[in-house]
Amino acid sequence: MTTEFPIDLRGVSRSYRDDQPVLSDLDLQVATGEVVAVLGRSGTGKSTLLRIIAGLDRGYVGRALLGGRSVQDLSDDQLSAYRAQSVGIIFQSFHLLDHLSAAENVDLGARFAPKTGVESTADLLAAVGLEGRGHEQPALMSGGERQRLAIARALRNQPEIILADEPTGNLDEETGRLVINLLGELGRGRGVASVWVTHEERLADAADRVLILENGKLEQR
Ligand SMILES: Nc1ncnc2c1ncn2[C@@H]1O[C@H](COP(=O)(O)OP(=O)(O)O)[C@@H](O)[C@H]1O
Ligand SMILES: [Mg+2]
Repeated sequence: MTTEFPIDLRGVSRSYRDDQPVLSDLDLQVATGEVVAVLGRSGTGKSTLLRIIAGLDRGYVGRALLGGRSVQDLSDDQLSAYRAQSVGIIFQSFHLLDHLSAAENVDLGARFAPKTGVESTADLLAAVGLEGRGHEQPALMSGGERQRLAIARALRNQPEIILADEPTGNLDEETGRLVINLLGELGRGRGVASVWVTHEERLADAADRVLILENGKLEQR
């Protein structure tokens, strides 16, 4: 399905307990090919926001249209399919499987809902600067290489949406900058809607739009 705004949240609120909501009547639209960075201090609800977009949390009120689908109306199976087909996620700690080769890790990105006509693992390894290194063990790679591998895996099933939760948190400044520039470039080139969340200002430079998450709402920086 193609839609102009793969991410479209309207009036989303999320509370974990009865007190102060973590997200409060929040709106967010992200266009095809757009990269949005969300900055916020620890505990402001950044990961909560990403989990909602990823279809991992339905305990909110309001409306989330993701890839043109209303998440609240999907069955659990449909929601799993949405995640497998439409969302690529990148984490601070890479979440690679060290008993698999680099190429096998990238392949996992297409394992649960294989699509036809998507980029091959070899092409994606080349796109992230790891050409010909598919046989290597991820555990022996540097942090920057491991995160680039995770980026290749996230893109493997041609997702509509890429989410990154503190993607440079385990990288030194220069490596973090290279990785984030690459992530932005690859997402834009493929028409993916990207949301990066972080408490690190340096991520913002490589995004098209920067929002601040504070008091449960997003504001333009
Ligand atoms: N599953 C949960 N149950 C209860 N409270 C949670 C849960 N997840 C997050 N929180 C609380 O919600 C707030 C926002 O958390 P989080 O979204 O992880 O923030 P951030 O990613 O910005 O650090 C924090 O106060 C956190 O303790
Ligand atoms: Mg977090």
